[in-house]
Amino acid sequence: MNSILIIDDEAGIREILQDILEDEGYKVYQAGDGFEGLHLLKTTKVELVLLDIWLPRMGGIDVLKELKKTYPELEVIVISGHANVDMAVNAIKLGAFDFLEKPLDMDRVITLTRNALQIENLKQENKSLKDQLMVEDRMIGSSSSLDEVNRIINQSAGSDSRVMITGENGTGKELVARRIHLNSNRRNKPFIEVNCAAIPDNLIESELFGHEKGAFTGAASQRKGRFEAADGGTLFLDEVADMSLSAQAKVLRAIQEMKFERVGGEQSISVDVRILSATNKNIAEEIEQGNFREDLFFRLNVIPIKLPALRERTDDLDELIAYFMDKFKKEGTVPKTITSEGMAFLKKYSWPGNIRELKNFLERVNIMCNEQEITLDSVQTYLGEQDKSAESGPISNFRDLKLNEAKDKFERELLVYYLKENNYNISKTAQVLGIYPSNLHSKIKKFDIEVKK
Ligand SMILES: Nc1ncnc2c1ncn2[C@@H]1O[C@H](COP(=O)(O)OP(=O)(O)OP(=O)(O)O)[C@@H](O)[C@H]1O
Ligand SMILES: [Mg+2]
Repeated sequence: MNSILIIDDEAGIREILQDILEDEGYKVYQAGDGFEGLHLLKTTKVELVLLDIWLPRMGGIDVLKELKKTYPELEVIVISGHANVDMAVNAIKLGAFDFLEKPLDMDRVITLTRNALQIENLKQENKSLKDQLMVEDRMIGSSSSLDEVNRIINQSAGSDSRVMITGENGTGKELVARRIHLNSNRRNKPFIEVNCAAIPDNLIESELFGHEKGAFTGAASQRKGRFEAADGGTLFLDEVADMSLSAQAKVLRAIQEMKFERVGGEQSISVDVRILSATNKNIAEEIEQGNFREDLFFRLNVIPIKLPALRERTDDLDELIAYFMDKFKKEGTVPKTITSEGMAFLKKYSWPGNIRELKNFLERVNIMCNEQEITLDSVQTYLGEQDKSAESGPISNFRDLKLNEAKDKFERELLVYYLKENNYNISKTAQVLGIYPSNLHSKIKKFDIEVKK
């Protein structure tokens, strides 16, 4: 049911309007002047305002301006006397939907109201569809660590503070970033994501800040960067620890001053952007090794969110599984369940790919499995041996990883293998691998490999 607010100083008009609009099935509120109306809107949600243009204390045009400023989506129909139709025309320029002339023609009141609400409802629908497109999943889970995450998301509504989200891969960092944006006052402005790991070093600056025509070979025309695209909204720097040091310096300056130049440009561009960032690296370690600027870290990490690995929050497994089973069920069927033996196995499983791995697993189960109840046997089949050909090859270990993560993981495994084989003799292992011992030393440190003596 849609709600309507009538702002008019004549009690008689308010009463008549209320009667016929209630007969049409709307919920109707009344206010005798603009102040009263604006006050009521602070606590009451309506979709349409019928606004008399000739009001005591605060004129109808000023009320309209205030309404459009505070509630840009709200539709307003202006009511004017014959003598001030020019004001009504002005009101439409200011964003009113249409106007009604006194004495009121009740048929026209009903038609206009219906049209205005139809537009309003379409706008709402459009917005919620957009929101759904942006966030593919709800945040599921009620473990205490997730409560804390939700608390921060909710509190971020009125604040522009920078949030840094850390956690293993697949723990939901991007989902959290999108949720923060949708909960903030910037929700109707762009959410722009930059995957810092996916952009080559030599292009990242132009990607972030844009470039002028002819700034470098291949820059055939001027291009706006992500900072500009995010103006008024949120910029999400994903995999932020993978950014080169020179790009880090530029980003630091840009977020300190909210100003930057396009590559090859002189003019400085100001933007209003909220920065969120995420990484699955151990950032303290990256700082220690000189891969990440500490000053940038302090700027980005005003509010830290650490997402727990799935294996640390197995309490949430029931809820998550129920959610995904429902999401992936065939249309018109009831969600599948998992036997208690199967559940026990899943609770002990280490979930290296976290929620993404769980989600993929349950999608697979819903496509491949015909039984309604998933047994331990099926759980093991679909969790471990999704694809026999990949299982026997090297790919299985790197499933669900980004290229950079897969490279790191592979390198680490290779080093551990050869170190062991050569009894942790550094120079011998380095020789086998064809690298300098000093290089091997730094890799051992980088990957935190235990060297047994
Ligand atoms: N709490 C949750 N409830 C429901 N779905 C979730 C939850 N957390 C994550 N997901 C889903 O799991 C998948 C992985 O999440 P997301 O991409 O946000 O992880 P990530 O931490 O950014 O991963 P990566 O480090 O690989 O970039 C997404 O499909 C996301 O919608
Ligand atoms: Mg991500």
